[in-house]
Amino acid sequence: MAAILAIETSCDETAVAIVKDRKVLSSIVSSQIELHRTYGGVVPELASRQHLEWVNPAIAQAMEEAQLSWAEIDGIAATVTPGLVGALLVGTMAAKSLAMLYKKPFLGVHHLEGHIHATYLDQPSLQPPFLCLLVSGGHTSLIHVRASGDYTTLGQTRDDAAGEAFDKVARLIDLGYPGGPAIDKLAKQGNSQTFKLPEGRISLGKHQGKGQGKAKYHPYDSSFSGLKTAVLRLTEQLKAEGPLPKADLAASFQYTVAKALTKRAIACAKDFNLSTIAVGGGVAANSELRRQLTAAAQSEGLQALFPPLALCTDNAAMIACAACEHFSQGRSSSLQLNVQSRTPLEKVLSLYE
Ligand code: KG4
Ligand code: ZN
Repeated sequence: MAAILAIETSCDETAVAIVKDRKVLSSIVSSQIELHRTYGGVVPELASRQHLEWVNPAIAQAMEEAQLSWAEIDGIAATVTPGLVGALLVGTMAAKSLAMLYKKPFLGVHHLEGHIHATYLDQPSLQPPFLCLLVSGGHTSLIHVRASGDYTTLGQTRDDAAGEAFDKVARLIDLGYPGGPAIDKLAKQGNSQTFKLPEGRISLGKHQGKGQGKAKYHPYDSSFSGLKTAVLRLTEQLKAEGPLPKADLAASFQYTVAKALTKRAIACAKDFNLSTIAVGGGVAANSELRRQLTAAAQSEGLQALFPPLALCTDNAAMIACAACEHFSQGRSSSLQLNVQSRTPLEKVLSLYE
């Protein structure tokens, strides 16, 4: 395996890491959360400007901490898709410049493939096939991982991503941004059974024949917009009655999201005969999801793997790890490769020559 330096600037973290043999030699993550907090969400133009300011110092720091010379780096990678185009451009241009300067191959990486690979850094012996439950601010997907570059999305959200739902509900009950960690923290003081909230099932219409009249639901797709609306209505009603029981609301909401995700992940793993569920993305940090999915997997004879928190949220080590796998299979990208705001995970290999 090779030593890869990777740059991740798809959203609001300026991150640079060096990974060798599924081992993290350095991982720098400069979070822009404070910059965007006043606006209640990421402001794309501000994100690009901050990346521009921070990317070179982060590269220098990553090289210093890894204690490698440029001669010992085998390839330079950057997240090229999906993400904010202006933000992606900063990391990608920096990586291409380094690749040209030091005459190294350039590898353009799909951000979601990075999240899938985060588990390898914690469990270097993990081998596909496995199921990845990817739950972030922008995605909620169940992915059948057959090999690096060979993925099928088996289920996804029909509306809000799980992290987006956490952020929106946190705003409803005035917990600030980002909402996920705030809800997770406050929920510890609340009772998750206080409010019964809708799980958000996707109807497939009425079942024909036996059991006629009974609605059938998509087993792997999720929906969080109904849950968010239910919290909004409940909040309005409760506000009229007195002080808002924020901790109980946070705990009940979080319990419902974790239950919906756990149910779908377990059903999918069993149906596709996959004994390992690797969880990735910012919401993988959620303590209730960790509790419910670990317990459900155990009782079904499956294993649920959660990377450490620093590898769940956006970082460049996971991007370097994905690039390492492609590099070891002889792949690299053209310097003409452009950033793209979206690319289906199934088209990952189109990023390589
Ligand atoms: O993967 P990530 O860092 O960025 C994206 O690629 O989207 O995920 C960020 C999302 C945010 O929506 C944040 O609220 C959520 O992950 N998040 C959490 C927790 N920590 C971060 N959600 C629930 N519980 C947490 N502990
Ligand atoms: Zn992410």
